[in-house]
Amino acid sequence: MRLLYALIALPALVARAGPVSRHGGTTSPNIRANDTALLNFALSLGNLQNAFYNQGLSQFDDSAFNSSGYGPGIRNGFIQIGQSKQVQVALINETLGANATAPCTYNFPLDNVTTFANLSQVIENIGTSAYIGTAQNITNATYQTIAASILSNNARYASWVAYQVNEVEPWDGPFDTPLTPSQVETLIAPYIVSCPGNLTGPFTPAGNLTIPPTSAGSNATFIFNNVTELTGANASTPLFAAYLQGLNQTFVPITNGSATVPNNLTGIVYAAVTNSSTVVSNDTTVAGPAWINLSYRYNTTETSEGGTPPTSTTSIVTVTETSEGGTPPTSTTSVVTIWTISSQSKSDSLSGSGIDGVSLISALREL
Ligand SMILES: *[C@@H]1O[C@H](CO)[C@@H](O)[C@H](O)[C@H]1NC(C)=O
Ligand SMILES: *[C@@H]1O[C@H](CO)[C@@H](O)[C@H](O)[C@H]1NC(C)=O
Ligand SMILES: *[C@@H]1O[C@H](CO)[C@@H](O)[C@H](O)[C@H]1NC(C)=O
Ligand SMILES: *[C@@H]1O[C@H](CO)[C@@H](O)[C@H](O)[C@H]1NC(C)=O
Ligand SMILES: *[C@@H]1O[C@H](CO)[C@@H](O)[C@H](O)[C@H]1NC(C)=O
Ligand SMILES: *[C@@H]1O[C@H](CO)[C@@H](O)[C@H](O)[C@H]1NC(C)=O
Ligand SMILES: *[C@@H]1O[C@H](CO)[C@@H](O)[C@H](O)[C@H]1NC(C)=O
Ligand SMILES: *[C@@H]1O[C@H](CO)[C@@H](O)[C@H](O)[C@H]1NC(C)=O
Ligand SMILES: *[C@@H]1O[C@H](CO)[C@@H](O)[C@H](O)[C@H]1NC(C)=O
Ligand SMILES: *[C@@H]1O[C@H](CO)[C@@H](O)[C@H](O)[C@H]1NC(C)=O
Ligand SMILES: *[C@@H]1O[C@H](CO)[C@@H](O)[C@H](O)[C@H]1NC(C)=O
Ligand SMILES: *[C@@H]1O[C@H](CO)[C@@H](O)[C@H](O)[C@H]1NC(C)=O
Repeated sequence: MRLLYALIALPALVARAGPVSRHGGTTSPNIRANDTALLNFALSLGNLQNAFYNQGLSQFDDSAFNSSGYGPGIRNGFIQIGQSKQVQVALINETLGANATAPCTYNFPLDNVTTFANLSQVIENIGTSAYIGTAQNITNATYQTIAASILSNNARYASWVAYQVNEVEPWDGPFDTPLTPSQVETLIAPYIVSCPGNLTGPFTPAGNLTIPPTSAGSNATFIFNNVTELTGANASTPLFAAYLQGLNQTFVPITNGSATVPNNLTGIVYAAVTNSSTVVSNDTTVAGPAWINLSYRYNTTETSEGGTPPTSTTSIVTVTETSEGGTPPTSTTSVVTIWTISSQSKSDSLSGSGIDGVSLISALREL
């Protein structure tokens, strides 16, 4: 029996899935990037964020913010975020010394202040996700602390931009989304014009994916350029849209270049094209991920008094399909929970213990 719902996580909390075969059908151990490569990845992301605020703030002055309807404090908030990025970049750059990757040339499509504010929310979410996916692989405890510290810092900015600036829900559910360096490099590739050094390091970005603006419950269009996949020997391989939100992954078959966005996803969601209905890895990814912004307007009057979340904030996927025959489904949506916590009480005891992020990461590494 083939379970379409896999658990990949740490033994004490969750079960671990079997090994994943690499490209070409061979099975090789996962590459474990060293701290220099991981810090350079963090540096390249910081350089991009730094350039984003430099471009946006030089493009839009106080009067541009005012005439776009933003309050007087908003641009100042972005200035402070931009300054933080500079300090973060300087620290990582100094830590790497001669091994540091130089900044690239970037270009962000910033038509107006609203575009800038929306992309800021996305870029801070990507930053948060990048550190969630990377922190576990950093071996030096000092660097791990720096990474955890920048992780939460990105999450604060993402929340401020969402709630205060864009007036949308500042969180997307009970968990934030981990992304691998390869996935992040794929997401940021469209904003990079050229690089003097080696931008990708040992990580392999996937092919580009474009998803025009869409909404939950809609038929999203997946534009990607892989002629081999579509017309070659693999043309009959079913493809899936893998929607990544929190620790859940939802797979929807792609039909004629389209796949429905599950109507219970909200916020910044990442979507990749895969040839698997259960696994998102370098091996199964055909293109992407790309980001989709499904944020919705925050409405304080909707907050419930009695501890029951309002129905409109539901952002959780519940479907866990099983398939008997080992054949991936072609017409149903499936959900993979990549991490799970074995009991609510364990979850409560973790959050109630005052354990900090670094100790948590260390504790998880011990398991
Ligand atoms: C991170 O470590 C895991 C094993 O714990 C490994 O599977 C994965 O490939 C590593 N990722 C990177 C980017 O080094
Ligand atoms: C770390 O990885 C980089 C490639 O990203 C390599 O150039 C470097 O030699 C490695 N350093 C060590 C100590 O293995
Ligand atoms: C990074 O550090 C080097 C010195 O190691 C310095 O020359 C360079 O200007 C720094 N780059 C940034 C972006 O801070
Ligand atoms: C560059 O990285 C290597 C390990 O990859 C390390 O041995 C060396 O000291 C680093 N150089 C500097 C200047 O930090
Ligand atoms: C801002 O630019 C976007 C395109 O990026 C456009 O859809 C939107 O209407 C513009 N908003 C304003 C207020 O001009
Ligand atoms: C971590 O890196 C710092 C700074 O390079 C160094 O002083 C420290 O010894 C390293 N720690 C370990 C455990 O290697
Ligand atoms: C992805 O897009 C970037 C720029 O938008 C381009 O430089 C790169 O070659 C593209 N990669 C692929 C695999 O198409
Ligand atoms: C970048 O460095 C990695 C090793 O860290 C290497 O495998 C890759 O070929 C390099 N890419 C370029 C474009 O030099
Ligand atoms: C296109 O798809 C084929 C088959 O899955 C894969 O081997 C190849 O690496 C893909 N090429 C690109 C550029 O993504
Ligand atoms: C989504 O669009 C594709 C092609 O545009 C179409 O074949 C498919 O039936 C549509 N699906 C739904 C659920 O509307
Ligand atoms: C989430 O969406 C799926 C379909 O995409 C649906 O089957 C499921 O009932 C939804 N769950 C919730 C909690 O709304
Ligand atoms: C995945 O979604 C289910 C709802 O179907 C939710 O109960 C669970 O907490 C989610 N798991 C994670 C790890 O996000």
